[in-house]
Amino acid sequence: MTTRSLVRDAADRAATYLEEIDSRGVAPTSDAVAALSHFDRALPERPLDPASILRELDEVGSPGTSTSAGGRYFGFVIGATLPAALAASILATAWDQNAGLVVISPTTAKLEAIALRWLLDALHLPSESAAGFVTGATMANFTCLAAARHALLERAGWNVEEQGLFGAPPLNVVVGDEVHVTLLKALALLGLGRARVTRVPADAQGRMRADLLPPLDDRTILCLQAGNVNTGACDPMSELIPRARAAGAWVHVDGAFGLWAAATPSRAALVAGVADADSWALDAHKWLNVPYDSGVAICRDRDALRGATAVTAAYLVQGAEREPCEYTPELSRRARGVDVWAAISSLGRSGIAEMIERNCAQATRFAGGLRDAGYEILADVVLNQVLVSFGDDETTRRVIAGIQADGTCWCGGTVWHGRIAMRISVCSWATTDRDVELSLAAMLRVASEIVVAR
Ligand SMILES: Cc1ncc(COP(=O)(O)O)c(C=O)c1O
Repeated sequence: MTTRSLVRDAADRAATYLEEIDSRGVAPTSDAVAALSHFDRALPERPLDPASILRELDEVGSPGTSTSAGGRYFGFVIGATLPAALAASILATAWDQNAGLVVISPTTAKLEAIALRWLLDALHLPSESAAGFVTGATMANFTCLAAARHALLERAGWNVEEQGLFGAPPLNVVVGDEVHVTLLKALALLGLGRARVTRVPADAQGRMRADLLPPLDDRTILCLQAGNVNTGACDPMSELIPRARAAGAWVHVDGAFGLWAAATPSRAALVAGVADADSWALDAHKWLNVPYDSGVAICRDRDALRGATAVTAAYLVQGAEREPCEYTPELSRRARGVDVWAAISSLGRSGIAEMIERNCAQATRFAGGLRDAGYEILADVVLNQVLVSFGDDETTRRVIAGIQADGTCWCGGTVWHGRIAMRISVCSWATTDRDVELSLAAMLRVASEIVVAR
């Protein structure tokens, strides 16, 4: 088979997969998962034919996936892939560019710089900010916090990249009680410690209590959150950020998905004041609906970000333009900015706002339909997240399992304020209002069967 027919075969199979996504269950069947044992074989001694590798991948692998690329997957905070972003990613994969240096790939470096400018514009963040395209919000948090560590220690006369943390002036980190685990992981990776943090209590919705903020100083990193992973709630930025900045603290915002509220006029009030922070972690693979993996680490102070991440070596040709690798932990990496550029091109400012607004309205519809049927909504629905209890913990657990087995849609569980809850996260461009009605009907059917049976 020629490369052309192989690539065409892959594209055809991908298109068929997407066309059929609505006609199969959202979770893979147990038979499809069991069939994955087909892949369990020893290292092939001889080369295999690419066409048969692709066939096997599709015939055995495709049925073993969750249809998170479709419109009825509401687990975790996932997002699908916009057609333009998918197509761009396919072409960029064929380019196989190392996106680290302009000299290797002028096209991807250019598109990344433009995607970054557009992101700052859409999110109303300071236009002078620098950013790196990383794998997701975990690495965006890590990268931004590395910049914060660099800046605060530099002010104290300590070069952390050269000297390390042993003997360094101590830094304080303040987080909300509802901090995402991956921000704590980033702190652990940076030697700042998960347990060394000061935790500020959260209110009933999961927002940091501004009245309980401890005194801050210029050796403090204050970590705020835009979008609680369970409730979607955002910390009160306009109350907290001015106080932190007046004290000389660095403010970092984990805005994995909630920062997109800033791009949506009807939701922007949730994150009012967020542009006054020093750094922002953002996911693109969630609510911007680009392929995995894709996140952005944004930092107001270009020198702080470069100071934490840039490297030089004689063989790494660096020109006058923005060198992408100077803003990311990695040197070599895929050209994530191309997908982001394509997604923003295909939506435009109004399309981004419309998608976010539509998903928020769909979350509100889920909450209303479940509440009208007598089930308890455990937190205000301010963005795209819904938490619902179907009764006692065991009942809710069974309903979640029942909904997952039913296959119309997929939702996961969590514990919210000591109670088991089902999470509904709506962040897919592909979710139609019909998907919501079908899914809501399935939830109510499964729940009533289980509640009646108990
Ligand atoms: C608030 C928040 N921060 C960080 C993350 C981690 O994001 P990623 O999985 O893209 O690394 C998530 C994931 O849901 C999140 O909701």
